[in-house]
Amino acid sequence: MRGGLASHLPRRLALLGGTTRWSDCVEALSYLGRPAQLVQGVKIKEYEDAFAATVGVKYAIGFASGRVSLYGLLRALGIDEGAEVLLSVPTHIVVANAIRYTGARPIYVDCRLEDYNIDLADAERRITPRSRVLLLQHTFGVPVEMDTALAFARRHNLVVIEDCVHALGARYDGRQVGTLGHAAFFSTEETKTISTVMGGMAVTNDADLAYRMRTFQASCNLSPLSLSARYLMKFVVYYMLTEPSVHRFARVAYERLGRRNPLPVPTTLEERRGQRPRDYERRLSNGQAALGLAQLRSLQRNLEHREFVANAYEDSLSPCGLRLPEVPSKAEPSFVRYPVWVEDRPTVIRALAPHAVVGTWFTSVLEEAESPEAAGYAPGSCPNAEQAAQHLINLPTHPRVSARDVRMLTTALTRAVSSRGPSFKHRW
Ligand SMILES: Cc1ncc(COP(=O)(O)O)c(C=O)c1O
Repeated sequence: MRGGLASHLPRRLALLGGTTRWSDCVEALSYLGRPAQLVQGVKIKEYEDAFAATVGVKYAIGFASGRVSLYGLLRALGIDEGAEVLLSVPTHIVVANAIRYTGARPIYVDCRLEDYNIDLADAERRITPRSRVLLLQHTFGVPVEMDTALAFARRHNLVVIEDCVHALGARYDGRQVGTLGHAAFFSTEETKTISTVMGGMAVTNDADLAYRMRTFQASCNLSPLSLSARYLMKFVVYYMLTEPSVHRFARVAYERLGRRNPLPVPTTLEERRGQRPRDYERRLSNGQAALGLAQLRSLQRNLEHREFVANAYEDSLSPCGLRLPEVPSKAEPSFVRYPVWVEDRPTVIRALAPHAVVGTWFTSVLEEAESPEAAGYAPGSCPNAEQAAQHLINLPTHPRVSARDVRMLTTALTRAVSSRGPSFKHRW
């Protein structure tokens, strides 16, 4: 969709499809034409090896999603009834679910407003003799202050699992996230740094843990053929519909489909209610692994682009007094999206709507939960996270965002904020 008419149509950025290139779609279509290789095949191991090499770990084991990777890690670490897992909010309901499905109890810890990562002073208050795991989420791609977090974990004898779902490519003290704890997991769901539509990867340097994860992987169901095919179809369809010149028209038509839309959704109603879905423990398909391999090949360019865009957002927005993330001194972030704190989120979203679908991670302390209480969250217990869930918007950083898009978005954002007068800006 280059040149010609498309270049004259008004652009509107989508949240999805931005990491995909036409050559990746050709790969997807080639697997759709070879159903015998769609579910099982050599690409899975090849992708796992490439992923391990990319992150710089010895072992990477693939699953249907990040949530299943976390669930497998917890089970392989012997976490079950009676254990407590400390995790920061805001996060996604499926993270809390993965903990709850093992029988363990999620202990919700508030975040710091500087970077939306765990507040260790609050974690200290929530430690009990049953605390076993510290789950460290590198929120939006900003690494947790790991020196302090690892010292905290040692002091309390906790196993550290890194949630790197937002943070592929980020570094702390020169080391990639995913190599700093005992184990880590990544997601390649369609809104993340690379996309296999759905997908997850557990990583570790611990040979015993890796062996147990392989055993768990072997016990997981294969991805059904029809689901594997629908994922690949979604990959291609979304690539086309989210092209910035056609997105505004395509989205209207697509939304008309409503419930008739045959393409799979990332989170089921049961999961949003905190219930365990049938067929939860599932593997990644061979066709999706082939897409993962293709996306890893262009990862470096993807990451450089995200860094360029995030820096441009920061340069344009920091003079306006808006609250932007503050990155720990040893951290090199890799922004999957760029978070901005605004007072009146609905107004800002409306102001930016002609240019982009603005991200709203997070609208709840447990994103997409029908009710965080159903997952054991006590309202009022994490006030910073509750505030963040009211005030954050997140701007796209993916490879389809151009320098001109950045200018349009930041101009519209600063105009929306300043038109509401100085009380609308943060003063700290
Ligand atoms: C911080 C975080 N961790 C984990 C997950 C789960 O990843 P997946 O959707 O691949 O299961 C999500 C989902 O968006 C997330 O935002």
